[in-house]
Amino acid sequence: MKNTLSEELLSSLTADTPSISPKFFYDDIGSRLFDVITLLNEYYPTRTEKWIMDAYQGDIAAAVGHCDVLVDLGAGNCAKASRLFETLNPRQYRALDISKEYLEVAVADLQKQFPQIEMSAHAVDLSLPMAFPDIQELDKVFFYPGSSIGNFDPEQADEFFVNLANECHGKGGLLIGVDLVKDVETLNLAYNDSLGVTAAFNLNTLLNVNRLIGSNFQPQDWEHYAFFNTSQSRIEMHLRALKDVQITLPGHKGHDHLISFGAGNLIHTENSYKYTQDHFVEKLRCAGFKDIHCWTDPNKHFLVCFAKT
Ligand code: TRP
Repeated sequence: MKNTLSEELLSSLTADTPSISPKFFYDDIGSRLFDVITLLNEYYPTRTEKWIMDAYQGDIAAAVGHCDVLVDLGAGNCAKASRLFETLNPRQYRALDISKEYLEVAVADLQKQFPQIEMSAHAVDLSLPMAFPDIQELDKVFFYPGSSIGNFDPEQADEFFVNLANECHGKGGLLIGVDLVKDVETLNLAYNDSLGVTAAFNLNTLLNVNRLIGSNFQPQDWEHYAFFNTSQSRIEMHLRALKDVQITLPGHKGHDHLISFGAGNLIHTENSYKYTQDHFVEKLRCAGFKDIHCWTDPNKHFLVCFAKT
């Protein structure tokens, strides 16, 4: 495990565009910092999505209809799914997330509050194809809130939709939240909050990587750098070197690798794509979803869709 991660990081950090995969954000501290991001005034997506889900609760329930299983594709602290229990009344709740420890605690807490729902927690990497053969015959809702879909490249998002459309087997659908294109200032502020929580979240990746592979990144030598790239319609998050630095990545049998970064060099950590409603609906349609319902807030900052095959 350690060797595979080291090799993965060695190759991503020495590529033409150095990067660290966003999966390295989510250690225990990262998951907690992320929860704080969702509370920030500048970070409108979480509260706007909640507003939409509350305001249109009845319409969403009507569009979804019967639901045996709620499959939560990015469960995190499970707070969003737990609010849906009342609306959808599922028999089973299946929580998926990349960070296992954090997820198991959240699901165990939730199980106490909702003893009648059969719950399970699964650590998965959502960028890999998923299969749910055991629930083929059941009415299921795949729930993918928080504009996590924006963290996929557009082509990966299309593959993900095709995979989910197949997994629906004509029973149930996808309930998804996505952030919409809007004025650049609002977008930039959401990823550059005044308390520096998003900066800490981004920088924490370096500490997590150190812990996992024994490298020696110094967070104080780096700064958070995030901006909206209009031509690509995405927020880009990077770490920028504040001075010339050399990083040691431990390799096989004491063969360490040295990687140099000059002051101002970037490590790309994540993208967050923003869509227009029309474009997003078109993507769902192309993947095989037909019956697509949309709800948005009065400012049209965020979109919630339910799509059936
Ligand atoms: N998917 C959400 C977004 O892109 C949440 C998120 C993922 C996020 N990674 C992040 C928010 C990094 C801030 C920083 O907005």
